[in-house]
Amino acid sequence: MRKVRKYVVKAAFKDFLPQKSDFEIIEESIMPLSSQEFLVKAEYISVDPYMRSFAEDIEVPYDQFGFQVGKVIESKNPEFPVNCHVVSHSGWQDHVVLDGSSDDMFGIKPYIPDIGNMPLSLSIGALGMPGITAYLGLLEICKPKQGEIVCVTSAAGAVGSLVGQVAKLMGCTIIGFAGSDKKVQVLKQEFGFHHAINYKTTANVKDTLSKIAPHGIDCYFDNVGGELAEIIMENMKEHGRVAVCGAISTYGMGVPRRKKPNTRVSVNVESFSFTQWDWPRQREALNQLKDWIQKGTIKAKETVTNGFEELPATFVAMLKGESIGKAVVKI
Ligand SMILES: NC(=O)c1ccc[n+]([C@@H]2O[C@H](COP(=O)([O-])OP(=O)(O)OC[C@H]3O[C@@H](n4cnc5c(N)ncnc54)[C@H](OP(=O)(O)O)[C@@H]3O)[C@@H](O)[C@H]2O)c1
Repeated sequence: MRKVRKYVVKAAFKDFLPQKSDFEIIEESIMPLSSQEFLVKAEYISVDPYMRSFAEDIEVPYDQFGFQVGKVIESKNPEFPVNCHVVSHSGWQDHVVLDGSSDDMFGIKPYIPDIGNMPLSLSIGALGMPGITAYLGLLEICKPKQGEIVCVTSAAGAVGSLVGQVAKLMGCTIIGFAGSDKKVQVLKQEFGFHHAINYKTTANVKDTLSKIAPHGIDCYFDNVGGELAEIIMENMKEHGRVAVCGAISTYGMGVPRRKKPNTRVSVNVESFSFTQWDWPRQREALNQLKDWIQKGTIKAKETVTNGFEELPATFVAMLKGESIGKAVVKI
């Protein structure tokens, strides 16, 4: 009988970085399919920061959740025939039996990705959840206008790298923060950011930012929270807009995720989740991003690791800042 291998988080993560021993691979038998069910063999599985932040609110043991894309290898569902690809929020498992219904965490229904002949892995990256997050968070919350200054943190990551590139297309000046000189170089040379700052080695981030943008920042897309976000928020212009996307610098710290922003002027600060936009709106975002990526107008960079066994290590490497663009594992 065929088996599924899946990751269970058996021990609560103690620090920001999980341990390999927090995870266990278990095997389960695959039962014969019922009507409407289909069996997917995973091809790429995603590792993302929310796997760390959501862990704070879930009791162990639990199945490791996450997006994946795979191929249908058996089907009793005419909407998902054999050989089609399917994106689903089915977690870290090498096979999954689905019936087309929504997942429990985000309410996302499995779907056939519309990515043309582009790499399949993009359907869980720039042409998946991170792409939707970057595009809609930037355009709907920051609402950047031509000539404005847009700042983004974790700028070389899955979401941040797209935010900067889309904002540049809107005619803005882009300032990106990242955690290594290599990333700073990639931001300027590959993603076309106007300014890039290594927040780990810059002695005085506040002064550096003031020199680049003496009149302040119009839009801030916040991926990190914490001290860096506070410094940037203190440099916002009157009527500036802040899209609070994530707070990775505080994940696993057991501290409140966010302090009240210290801004001297009137600024709109709005938290959001990509789930707040309905599927038709998300599809619009994906179609636009697909068009730009196909034309080479924006770049969708990935760090791809090979092997189901490498999922925990790839997850930790992403949290440590070792990946550039979207971190995914090829199964
Ligand atoms: N609101 C939503 O719906 C939504 C959806 C997706 C993602 N998010 C959030 O968006 C953010 C980015 O997600 P992503 O998938 O694009 O991840 P990512 O940026 O590709 O990867 C995470 C990056 O965070 C940076 N980082 C780690 N610790 C940090 C710290 N203490 N201070 C500053 N940066 C740190 C590292 O880059 P460096 O080398 O630059 O430090 C690391 O590579 C996360 O906060 C995530 O939770 C929110």
